[in-house]
Amino acid sequence: QEIYSKGLKGIRPRFTFDVSQWGPMAKEILPANAWGYVHGDAGSRQTDENNLASFKRWGIVPSRLVKFDKVDLSTKVLGMDLAYPLILAPVGVLQLFNEGKELAVAQAAKNAGVPYTLSTAAASSIEEAAQASDDGLRFFQLYWPTREHDEITISMLKRAKAAGYKALLVTLDTYILGWRPDDENHAYNPFLRPDSIGVEIGFSDPVFRKHFKKETGKEIEEDLPHAAREWSQIVFPGMSNGWEDLQLLKEHWDGPIVLKGIHTVPDAKRAVEAGVQGIVVSNHGGRQVDGCVASLDVLPDIAEAVGDKIDILFDSGIRCGTDIVKALALGAKAVLVGRPYVYGLAFGGQDGVEHVLKSLLGDLDLSLQLSGIPSVDKKHLNRDCLRRIN
Ligand code: FNR
Repeated sequence: QEIYSKGLKGIRPRFTFDVSQWGPMAKEILPANAWGYVHGDAGSRQTDENNLASFKRWGIVPSRLVKFDKVDLSTKVLGMDLAYPLILAPVGVLQLFNEGKELAVAQAAKNAGVPYTLSTAAASSIEEAAQASDDGLRFFQLYWPTREHDEITISMLKRAKAAGYKALLVTLDTYILGWRPDDENHAYNPFLRPDSIGVEIGFSDPVFRKHFKKETGKEIEEDLPHAAREWSQIVFPGMSNGWEDLQLLKEHWDGPIVLKGIHTVPDAKRAVEAGVQGIVVSNHGGRQVDGCVASLDVLPDIAEAVGDKIDILFDSGIRCGTDIVKALALGAKAVLVGRPYVYGLAFGGQDGVEHVLKSLLGDLDLSLQLSGIPSVDKKHLNRDCLRRIN
């Protein structure tokens, strides 16, 4: 309505609503290495292709003459009331895309009424991003150091809790970065740039600062590249923690814990046994394992197995409102979106992110109305709303 009423007054939108153009618009603005980083996938790009193709294998089956005034998009996730079933995925090093970085994104999320998730690999500190997110709902994503660095983990959790982050997303699929030809071709590791932009959370952490001083005898500012390397080895430590180690996080985080990157029914069951509150069915947007099954393809089995015991979130490949409809119908309570908002950040800063979020929500709202689906509750939006096409 907001869009059309502006149109009636002759006010044309600042950015296009054509989702297929958001990537190319970002590409036009960004340096090749930053574009390669956001757009890039693992290996031969099969996983991202699988993700995008998986949505096309399901079609919405609309019902007619269903009476309702307005679609109810609200949902309850992790015990929290959300206005919409949409959350911003954690994305690191946002300064690559716009100088407004995490702060612009946190503000846009707040304005759009969508929870914001801060990445451990952020270019802003936990406290700065919290300030920008203001009274908006915010979550913290943890790249989890090995147990020898428990003190650093605990310090991050403490800071996040004190700064008002309400849930902890623990990313399990990125203990090392995937084989990413775009980054390799540019000899590009965003965490080891001379300006060290993905390390702000470490550099502003008192425990990491003490650790660095002890190891090297230097302050971080005296040897930034070395400190950046040290931090990235701590937060991307390789195969390290096991299921039993989750106890540490439970002891030091008193809000909901969500495991991000779950892809099998046995792992989903282990998450339930471990006593966490949620999982994100995700393959990291195809950036880690090449040739991986689409996340949407594993969602129904996981939802069937644990959907009544734990909150299931979903990401990897959401590009438009009907993709959200499909993921919810197949068992997710809410979805996370990654690249589309990063493209928005690149082409329009905070306004670009808001534009992308509002577009996705407008599309979702209209698609549900036109399909005769009155709410995102399971009683209305479920498998019966879809037909498998092939
Ligand atoms: C990511 N993602 C990610 N995930 C995470 O847990 N911590 C992080 O720091 C990052 N960083 C990051 C950077 C960039 C540039 C991208 C594109 C993605 C993964 C992200 O949270 C999410 O899982 C995917 O982006 C979802 O897939 P789509 O929406 O991009 O297809």
